[in-house]
Amino acid sequence: QKSILQDTFGRQHTYLRISLTELCNLRCTYCMPAEGIQLSPKSHIMTYDEVYTLAKIFVNHGVTKIRLTGGEPLVRKDADVILKKLATLPVELSITTNAVIVDQFIDVFKSCGIQNINVSLDSLNADKFKQITRRSNFERVYKNIMLLINEGFRVKLNAVLIKNFNDNEIINFIELTKQYPFSVRFIEFMPFDGNKWDKEKMVSYAEVMSLVNDNYKPNEVIRLQDAPNDTSKNYQIKDYMGSFAVISSVTNPFCDSCNRIRLTANGKLKNCLFSATESDLLTALRQGQNIEPIIQKTVQSKFKIRGGMDTLKKLEEPKLHSKNRSMITIGG
Ligand code: GTP
Ligand code: 5AD
Ligand code: SF4
Repeated sequence: QKSILQDTFGRQHTYLRISLTELCNLRCTYCMPAEGIQLSPKSHIMTYDEVYTLAKIFVNHGVTKIRLTGGEPLVRKDADVILKKLATLPVELSITTNAVIVDQFIDVFKSCGIQNINVSLDSLNADKFKQITRRSNFERVYKNIMLLINEGFRVKLNAVLIKNFNDNEIINFIELTKQYPFSVRFIEFMPFDGNKWDKEKMVSYAEVMSLVNDNYKPNEVIRLQDAPNDTSKNYQIKDYMGSFAVISSVTNPFCDSCNRIRLTANGKLKNCLFSATESDLLTALRQGQNIEPIIQKTVQSKFKIRGGMDTLKKLEEPKLHSKNRSMITIGG
């Protein structure tokens, strides 16, 4: 066992998120600018061999969980090949997807031992779905979520809340958990390059809970035990099959228990979702350099909170968060 990836605050990085592609079959407004993004040339994107080689190095350094993200990871032509290859590593493999083409991957997921699937779904209304994603795929996505449930996968739905847009659906989402065993996670809208973030558009953890408390009796709202290193604060309505949660990166960051490190589709290592600096692992790998010191150095330079934007005021500075990428090229 090689050295573990521990930062200067004692946090151990056992969870690697790999973005497989910068492409997506949706165009969510909170994730990418309307005009699109400058895509990396194809030759700068990791091949499936390179993804595997890099992943293996991280596993040798103590990574036990890998989540695949994008863009939309499943639009990559060789997504199935990559999944099967990564499934040979001794890790918990999972994926975050928009579920548009998930039905084509059920068998692949099963053969890879994937059990946890996180699906982005911001509205239960087809028109609103279209407004936010700029594509009309609601029926397909909803059907695929039901398919995942019926096939026995553990599903978490990710709903990014936007004030006066989908916050009136919070209770509808929670009511779905009465009969379906998924977790609905309400996510505070976060600032990234080009997503026109504004504090006023964000719905906070406190606001979600106040709405919950207006709609359910105190003894009906159960605070669940969160998983270690969880991004979310988890709750359940008494006797409901599923649960709900809030991911409060803006108002209540969970950086103290952060165990994540990220590899972008073009092979850059990010020590934080909000990091402004990155290390170019792919170029180093292609040049035959030893990349282990680069990984260690990247981990060592990790800030305590949100890439150094430790206050809400700093997070609000467009000058600061625009040094980061667009979410579509980070993968969440
Ligand atoms: P699990 O592996 O099931 O815990 O999922 P997850 O919540 O880590 O990942 P997912 O891809 O479903 O992301 C849900 C939301 O959490 C998205 O808005 C992500 O941007 C956010 N998120 C994921 N990881 C981090 C993180 O390390 N820091 C912060 N601040 N947010 C994160
Ligand atoms: N703020 C919060 N969450 C976001 N996601 C994408 N962009 C943002 C943002 N600006 C979420 C999506 C997806 C996950 C990977 O990241 O809901 O499910
Ligand atoms: Fe970790 Fe950065 Fe997310 Fe905080 S904001 S939990 S340090 S990745």
